[in-house]
Amino acid sequence: MASKSNNTVWHKSSITRADREKLHKHKSVVLWFTGLSGSGKSTLAHAIEEQLYKNGISTYVLDGDNVRHGLCSDLSFTDSDRVENIRRIGELAKLLTDAGVITLTAFISPFKVDREEARKRLPHGDFFEIYCLCPIETCEQRDVKGLYKKARAGEIPFFTGIDSAYEAPDRAELVINTSELSLDACVQMVLHLLIERGVING
Ligand code: ADX
Repeated sequence: MASKSNNTVWHKSSITRADREKLHKHKSVVLWFTGLSGSGKSTLAHAIEEQLYKNGISTYVLDGDNVRHGLCSDLSFTDSDRVENIRRIGELAKLLTDAGVITLTAFISPFKVDREEARKRLPHGDFFEIYCLCPIETCEQRDVKGLYKKARAGEIPFFTGIDSAYEAPDRAELVINTSELSLDACVQMVLHLLIERGVING
C-alpha cells in the first residue's frame, strides 16, 4: 500500500534484530496459522506458546478475535476489510520479529495473496505458514462459539466457508490435520518443525 505519510524519515535503530535475538538466545520467526473458524488455530497457537514459554522463549500470540477488539476494531468481514486486517497483522508480525520475538498469528487469513504478502515482508525462511486443515463439517459440528449456527440462520453475513471464500494454502510449511490429531500431537509437529529448521534447540 502506498504510504500517505509524507515527510517522514526512517530512523535506523542502533540495536538490531540480531542484537535482540542474541539477548533472547533464539531466532525470531513468524508462525502463521491459517484455517477456517473453529479449525483450532488459536488453541494450537496458545498451546505451542505455553511450551515455548516453559523453554524460556519469548513469544507473542496475535489472535483474530482479540485483535479485532482493539487494533482492528474498525474492520468488518468484507473481503476488503479482511485484506486490511491481514495487512496490519503482517506488519505487526514483522515488527515483533524485529523485536526478537517468536510471533504466532491465528487468523483465518482466507486469501492466498494476502498470506503471500505477509510472507514477503520477512526475510526468506522466517515465515512458517501452518495450515490447520479441518473439514467445515467438523468446524460446524464443534461450533465452539455458536457462530456457524448464526451464519446458517443468516444472522452473520460473509461467514468464511459459507458465503465468504477460504483459499487453502498450496505451499504451507506444515499442514496439520486438526480434526484427526490430538492437540499434543499437533503441538509436537510444530515444535519438531522449529527444531528441524534450527529456530529452537531440541
Ligand atoms: S480474517 O478473515 O480477517 O482473517 P479473523 O481471523 O480476523 O478473520 O477473525 C475471525 C474470527 O472472527 C472467527 O474465528 C470468528 O470468531 C469471528 N467472526 C465473526 N464474523 C465472522 C465472519 N463473517 N467470518 C468469519 N469469522 C467471523
